[in-house]
Amino acid sequence: MSELQAYIDERKELNLQELIELLKIPSISTDESLGGEVKRCAERMSELMAEAGLETEVFETDGHPIVYGERLEAPGAPTVLVYGHYDVQPPDPVELWRNGPFEPTEEDGYLVARGATDDKGQFYALIKGIQASREVNGKLPCNIKVLCEGEEEVGSPNLDPFIRREQDRLACDIVFISDCSQFAIDMPAITYGLKGLCYLEVFVDGPSKDLHSGSFGGSVANPANVLACMMAACQGPDGKIAIPGFYDDVRPLEDWEREMMAELPFDEEEFRASVGAVKLFGEAGYTTLERKGARPTLDINGIVSGYTGEGAKTVLPATASCKFSMRLVPDQDPGKITTLVSDFLNQVAPDTVKVEVRPHHGASPVIVSRDGAAVKAAEKALETGFGRRPVFVREGGSIPVVNTFQEALGVESLLIGLGLPDDNLHAPNEHFRIKDYHRGAVTMAAFLEEYGKTKT
Ligand code: BES
Ligand code: ZN
Repeated sequence: MSELQAYIDERKELNLQELIELLKIPSISTDESLGGEVKRCAERMSELMAEAGLETEVFETDGHPIVYGERLEAPGAPTVLVYGHYDVQPPDPVELWRNGPFEPTEEDGYLVARGATDDKGQFYALIKGIQASREVNGKLPCNIKVLCEGEEEVGSPNLDPFIRREQDRLACDIVFISDCSQFAIDMPAITYGLKGLCYLEVFVDGPSKDLHSGSFGGSVANPANVLACMMAACQGPDGKIAIPGFYDDVRPLEDWEREMMAELPFDEEEFRASVGAVKLFGEAGYTTLERKGARPTLDINGIVSGYTGEGAKTVLPATASCKFSMRLVPDQDPGKITTLVSDFLNQVAPDTVKVEVRPHHGASPVIVSRDGAAVKAAEKALETGFGRRPVFVREGGSIPVVNTFQEALGVESLLIGLGLPDDNLHAPNEHFRIKDYHRGAVTMAAFLEEYGKTKT
């Protein structure tokens, strides 16, 4: 066993305890009443990063703080910027958690808590890898910068301006991010594509007050009925999005990608069973992996109107509204899609109601480089950490900052997921495999060693 492996093995319990403490802090970025907890999490993260040997600083923003750390002691070697987020999604529905979402518990080799995989666990594994590398080698083989934000789950509104302003401080050769997943258990992956996002909310206003559906039904348009028709007009039964112009800028999948995806060991029936759906569904003409990773989609995220309580209430509701989002692929532009979709909804809406479409956050889709010294080093490092060479995949999730790194700093990102596809991120009982937490630390340290051999 290598010295590095032995070092991490010795500290397994300690590293796990530190993560458990971080997971106890409810750093939910959307919840304004928890601002103090989010700040406490930033401060704790900064302390832990300092203990790992980084010189840290906490930057206040108009929203939640940004934690920054660096250790630049490898002249002539490349600089790696590690990015992660310490904020988490709300735990709702809380009643479906086996234990409290902020009371981390170990179950069958997994650590269960909100943020376990997304992204405290994955990010902190990298910090432990940096620390191990430094302590085993006496000094770091690459220059290290670390950026950890508290607003990823709300679209990173303050990170973009920070990166643009701090371009010099953040200058680097590659960004290293662990905020996605392996392809399958014990099957590490390098993610080379992420989807973008266009998130909208539509409001339909009908009569000025709720009405008796017997006395008034048939004489006044029902906003819930109208909204249902409008949303139904967005997608055909073949799964194609029916909004004119929606596919105009979609970069088609290349033949080699389709071949590569087809070769991945993916069992459609097993996948169906794992999500518990009666039957799989998606855009005609594409496989499940292609739909998930590389084709644009539209999903209603929430829809409200009328009476949803117990029993029956005969009402014609005054309003209806719905939040929905589209996942985008290169080269779709979230701004352009926002205009296109808003125009379409206004156009299909009848003149019997008032319709308003409001944009929430967006993110640009990205494709990152699949070759170069950093990718080669990551392939080797994953083999050291996980005992197997990685496959290359595209994922359906979004990490808005990857695009900013390309644009503002002119650098590519390495997307090395340490989680698993069924870690329940954003859902109850989110978890992270403890073995992969430790293997992630080994991978990070191995990467620094390998990439450090590259001269700049
Ligand atoms: N870790 C996820 C992104 C992710 C999930 C990447 C699954 C690959 C596979 C990230 O924290 C996230 O949830 N991002 C949001 C971004 C949005 C709020 C702009 C997302 O994808 O919904
Ligand atoms: Zn997330």
